[in-house]
Amino acid sequence: MSLLDLCLQGLAVFGFILFGVLWLMHFMSIIYVRLHLHRKRSEVKGQMAGVSLLKPLKGVDPNLISNLETFFTLDYPKYEVLLCVQDQDDPAVDVCKKLLGKYPNVDARLFIGGKKVGINPKINNLMPGYEGAKYGLVWICDSGIRVKPDSLTDMTNQMTEKVGLVHGLPYVADRQGFAATLEQVYFGTSHPRSYISANVTGIKCVTGMSCLMRKDVLDQAGGLVAFAQYIAEDYFMAKAIADRLAR
Ligand SMILES: *[C@@H]1O[C@H](CO)[C@@H](O)[C@H](O)[C@H]1NC(C)=O
Repeated sequence: MSLLDLCLQGLAVFGFILFGVLWLMHFMSIIYVRLHLHRKRSEVKGQMAGVSLLKPLKGVDPNLISNLETFFTLDYPKYEVLLCVQDQDDPAVDVCKKLLGKYPNVDARLFIGGKKVGINPKINNLMPGYEGAKYGLVWICDSGIRVKPDSLTDMTNQMTEKVGLVHGLPYVADRQGFAATLEQVYFGTSHPRSYISANVTGIKCVTGMSCLMRKDVLDQAGGLVAFAQYIAEDYFMAKAIADRLAR
């Protein structure tokens, strides 16, 4: 057999195994989600812990206002919305002001200017909000996320005594255009497949897009400042919290 044949055969075997593993991960994920993540609407159980929502904002897209609005209509007894914008001239400031005006009864504040503590722009932007946060749980949640009224209840219900971090696995809403469709396919298949398979096999793997954390544990690890030196702050936060709870 020639070397070329050998290489091609090797490649074919490799491709076949990869194909099999991906399908296995896919089925495993579907079964896990069906069994564990399909629950009825979450009810607020007794005393819920207060939550400080931190929203890093930069720029405006056509969906920003309707996405953000879902956080003003959460069905949750005790939370505050801390909107953080780095730049005074950012058009996101107007969007925030509109919502603050529309929902005067929601405990919400706008922080402009950030605070430079490191190389990570998201952390710099969030610093003033974090310092002003008054509740024991902080929820860092990206600007592109939208939620249902019971999403926060669902997340805090998972925050039992031994848990330091709860994250959400996002999926993409229907939008127009090729890029949006591509993103929807990715977030409906490949992205959750790897996260759920990691979870099922016991690998700690966190998506930082929507993350609820215990503030005291984060503060023990040095607070938000400690993560400003990293670009992948979500990974390091998750690791620091896991390390602390494992002790
Ligand atoms: C997997 O997910 C469950 C909740 O569905 C969580 O309690 C558990 O800690 C996760 N495991 C890992 C290794 O992240």
